[in-house]
Amino acid sequence: MKKSIWMPVSISVVMLMAACGGGEEKKAEEKASTAETTAPAADNSMVADVTGKGKELMAAQDCATCHKETEKVIGPSFKEIAAKYPSNPENIATLADKIISGGSGNWGEIPMAPHAGISKSDAEEMVKYILTVK
Ligand code: HEC
Repeated sequence: MKKSIWMPVSISVVMLMAACGGGEEKKAEEKASTAETTAPAADNSMVADVTGKGKELMAAQDCATCHKETEKVIGPSFKEIAAKYPSNPENIATLADKIISGGSGNWGEIPMAPHAGISKSDAEEMVKYILTVK
C-alpha cells in the first residue's frame, strides 16, 4: 500500500528536480552577460531596455558613418563584431574601452577614431547592443 502511494510521488519529485536544474543552468548561461536580475521576466525586459538604450546612444554619435548593422563600411558591421565576440563582461569592457580610446589592428589597418566624450557605462550599453546584432 505504502509503496503504491509513494512511488509516483518520488518519481515526479525527481522529474521536477531535473527540470528545475536544467532550467537554472540555462538561465545562468543567458545571464552571464547581464548578471544582475533574478526573475526571467525582469531579465527579458532588462535586455530589451539595454539594447534600446545602446542603439539610442549610438544614434546620437557618429558610429553610423563607419558602421552598419550588417554591411561592412569603413569599420566592421555589427553583425561581424557580434559573431567575433561572445557577449560576456570581459568583451563588453574591452570593446567599451576601444570605443572610447579608439584603435586598430583587430580588423585591419584602418583605425577607429577615439570617442573620448562617451562615458564607460554608455560605451558598454552600445557594446551590449552591438553584440546582440545577428
Ligand atoms: C571613423 C570611422 C569609425 C567611427 C566613427 C566608429 N568606428 Fe568603430 N571601428 C572603426 C574601425 C575601422 C574599426 C576596426 C578597428 C580594428 O581593426 O581594430 C572599428 C571597430 C569597432 C568595434 C570592434 C573593436 C574591436 O576591437 O574589435 C566596435 C565595438 C566599434 N567599432 C564600435 C563603434 C561605436 C559604438 C562607434 C560610435 C560611438 C564607432 N565604432 C564609431 C571605425 C569607426
